[in-house]
Amino acid sequence: MKPTAAPTAVLALPAFLPRAAANAAANDAAPADELRAGLYLPRATVSPKFLYDRLGSALFTAITELPEYYPTRTEAAIFSAQAADIAAFLRPALPASYALVDLGAGDGAKAARLFPALQPAHYVAVDISEDYLQQALAALQRQFPALRMTGVGLDFAQHLRLPAGLLQGPSLVFYPGSSIGNFSPEAALRLLRQAHGLADGGGLLIGADLLKTPAVLEAAYDDELGVTAAFNLNLLRHLNACIGSDFSVRDWRHVALFNATESRIEMHLEARRALQVQWPGGGREFAAGERIHTESSHKWAPGDFEALLRDAGWRQPRRWTDGAGWFGVFAARA
Ligand code: AVJ
Repeated sequence: MKPTAAPTAVLALPAFLPRAAANAAANDAAPADELRAGLYLPRATVSPKFLYDRLGSALFTAITELPEYYPTRTEAAIFSAQAADIAAFLRPALPASYALVDLGAGDGAKAARLFPALQPAHYVAVDISEDYLQQALAALQRQFPALRMTGVGLDFAQHLRLPAGLLQGPSLVFYPGSSIGNFSPEAALRLLRQAHGLADGGGLLIGADLLKTPAVLEAAYDDELGVTAAFNLNLLRHLNACIGSDFSVRDWRHVALFNATESRIEMHLEARRALQVQWPGGGREFAAGERIHTESSHKWAPGDFEALLRDAGWRQPRRWTDGAGWFGVFAARA
């Protein structure tokens, strides 16, 4: 596939590759088919990516401000305290002119705070939510007029592959926020291998949430104000919009629990009573107390995460944590 031609000098506007083009080769199931298939499973499951419609994204931003939700601010503190050290480790592994590939870029703010230390020549922002990305990138381009920027609308959960020709030479893959935790260890290994291929001899900078006492974890995913509950329940509204289902939010409640066997926080939606849900062409019944699994967020022992990186082909993993050892920032060379 041919990427849209982009002027390579100083860009007034970032280049943009829409999802239709970027995902075309991947042959992924359409979102509505994927949703219905998950709802028909005996243990109904919906991918956490459906948490992020417009309201869901706003609610997640609110979550990051909650006192109980430590990951975002802890990671930001590590990045700001260790930027020079991180750059000293990664920069020698990268060519003078290299691309920073930001997976799940959102508004690009996390990457932008690292631009001064990491000095990329090309910023490639990848996100599933393309209208948001396009707006955010245009704003960021005004802030950094000399940095070449490309937005790619892509759902990389199944395949991490960028349009041919976009990256030239070794790149730095940036995957902050502990979103890697949404993947099972097997799926995380697959994604990190794909990232290793993408980096093409470059580097990786990634955030992972670390194992800690279940009470701290459960509070972070079931806050006093009920913002996380709203975030989870909002998924039902998004489902209604996607497949025309008739979920009634009031019939469901938010459940967050730490699954010690799997080392993960799980979010579920639990039916408050026996009920039926319909959508065009189908539907199903839920018994009282039956759940829809909406998210898993894996928590890693630091050594296990480094072993995972090595398994995926990454070398010399380095780690930076906060004083309490709650969150890990990891870097490695390809
Ligand atoms: C965006 C996937 C990192 O797992 O902590 C926050 C999402 N879910 N509260 C996480 C989330 C509930 C978050 N990630």
